[in-house]
Amino acid sequence: MNFEAASALLEKYSQQHVLHYYDKLSDTQKATLLSSIENIDFSAFKTLNMAENKQLGQVTPIDALSLKEIKKQRSRYIQTGLAAIREGRVGVVLLAGGQGTRLGFNGPKGTFNIGVNKPLYIFECQINSIMASCAPAQTLPHLFIMTSPQNDEITRKFMEEHDYFGYDKKLIHFFVQGVAPAINYDGKILMAEKYKPVLTPDGNGGWFAALNKAYGRMLSKWGIEWLNLAGVDNVLQKICDPAFIGATIGSGVNCGCKSVKKVSPEERVGVICKEDGVPTVIEYYDMPQKLKVRHDVKGELIFCYGVILNYLFSVEKLKETIKKKLPYHLAEKKIPCIKGGKKFVPEAPNGYKLEQLAVDLVKLMGSCIAYEVEREVEFAPVKNATGADSVESARALLIKNGVEL
Ligand code: UD1
Repeated sequence: MNFEAASALLEKYSQQHVLHYYDKLSDTQKATLLSSIENIDFSAFKTLNMAENKQLGQVTPIDALSLKEIKKQRSRYIQTGLAAIREGRVGVVLLAGGQGTRLGFNGPKGTFNIGVNKPLYIFECQINSIMASCAPAQTLPHLFIMTSPQNDEITRKFMEEHDYFGYDKKLIHFFVQGVAPAINYDGKILMAEKYKPVLTPDGNGGWFAALNKAYGRMLSKWGIEWLNLAGVDNVLQKICDPAFIGATIGSGVNCGCKSVKKVSPEERVGVICKEDGVPTVIEYYDMPQKLKVRHDVKGELIFCYGVILNYLFSVEKLKETIKKKLPYHLAEKKIPCIKGGKKFVPEAPNGYKLEQLAVDLVKLMGSCIAYEVEREVEFAPVKNATGADSVESARALLIKNGVEL
């Protein structure tokens, strides 16, 4: 992209300040800046209002496949699920673009060691889970690991050094998530350097766009019809769970969503429900308080199914959604940048990072089953250093489930 084209593009989105120092830059810096501008997804600016000013439609509860019903149909589900795994129709996507910052750990979260007397890395827990689920099928699925520009190299190196925790290396494929510009409160792109906009990971919602760009053709070539999407931080989850896969495929829907009964109205999980009759997930911070606390006559929460970031998606349907842009959400943060040409490290939030959310894909799927799982057996997210959803609480649950630490 040349200067004129960049300038016209920026003008269209009222971002001309990005080129403010252009004349003072070296040739290499000029080239870097023009290439950054070319790679910015300016559609983000169009979808911002959509996400932030969006009024919720009519929100109603969803009927989930309950633990009781699943127990009755379990062997049938397992049969269907194992057949799909055996035939290579299922792939796994692990979202590992996040860092362990909230754990006080300066590295990719998957490389965090949750062991006590012996090492047990978070990535190792996830690999063990897939291998255990797929053992009866006597085959392993393709495993796609999403990293971020910040942690890609270190993640690949870590996995190689640990010999992929026994997984078949040929089946592991890394891909890097996209980035989005950070903006100030006036919607202007913040600059990291005079020749460089602040670009930060664009949230976990861009996973399919990034995967499709890197491996879209291979998905078809390998005959992968379903993708089991899982976050990296739940160390107790069952990935590639044949019963869940069988239940989703057998229900004729485009998406399955593992869910737990919420422990309290305020639990920080997304809720699977319906909006204007269509299955959707509403994040805890978007759920109106009056809906969060609504109870039935027995005192049970009406919107009781919290999602654990473990989904099964139809690849065909995902490919259809590629043309539709997911909205970007605003995450208010302290963002180091330049101000008046000088480096500025803010002590209070000074703008927003733009993030797409994986939960927004569910609504685009058109049909989805909520599949209940036992919290104590499948949900131990490692989010904080102490307290709820912490290293301590996850360790306690791992031990309770017979994992040696
Ligand atoms: C997430 C879910 C929420 C669910 C909860 C269960 C989303 C948007 N929210 O919330 O619905 O109830 O888990 O524990 O999915 N990640 C990336 N790149 C990014 C940001 C995140 O790969 O840019 C990955 C993280 O490594 C992690 C996962 O996405 O594996 C979850 O991200 P996080 O931002 O921590 O979401 P939560 O608030 O925990």
